[in-house]
Amino acid sequence: MNQTEKRILFTAEDIARQVERLASQICADYQGKEIVLVGVLKGAFIFLADLVRRLTISVELDFIRVASYGAGTESTGEIRITTDVELDLQGRDVLIVEDIVDSGLTTAFLREHLAGKNPRSLRICTLLDKTERRRVTIPLDYVGVQLDKGFVVGYGLDCDEAHRHLPEIYELIL
Ligand code: PRP
Repeated sequence: MNQTEKRILFTAEDIARQVERLASQICADYQGKEIVLVGVLKGAFIFLADLVRRLTISVELDFIRVASYGAGTESTGEIRITTDVELDLQGRDVLIVEDIVDSGLTTAFLREHLAGKNPRSLRICTLLDKTERRRVTIPLDYVGVQLDKGFVVGYGLDCDEAHRHLPEIYELIL
């Protein structure tokens, strides 16, 4: 898969603009509060790292790791938590940070799982909102860009673990 052709969708500058915009929205909405950002590994690691450095409010960080895709480009539909958060989220204002919402199954699952930890509020931030294969309706509170379809890689997103390190976002030409 490493040699698959790809075309650029978003440059590093495009992404940085969206990250800045999202950070401004988040800071405005949570002014005077302290939030817990929960990054969804592995895909969200670069987005979270960039986003958190644009926030001027008080922030704590945690991570959760789920496995939802098998090898390749198709979701198996199976989701399980492989590493849970460590912070106590009871009474906290929690923001889930995702790189991409595709079918929505992962985010819906995580939302329910984290809601069970009794946070004061629970919102979702995703850099990419890819709509064509959405299978469940979930409220997305902060969205970078919407896409219809395409298998996207780079800026944390992978295909069989390749391409995560790229500073830009690409669509694979399958
Ligand atoms: C990707 C992405 C989301 C999920 C979205 O993670 O980071 O968590 O898929 O897909 P969905 O909306 O169809 O559920 P993936 O399982 O590929 O793991 P990774 O983050 O480790 O790459």
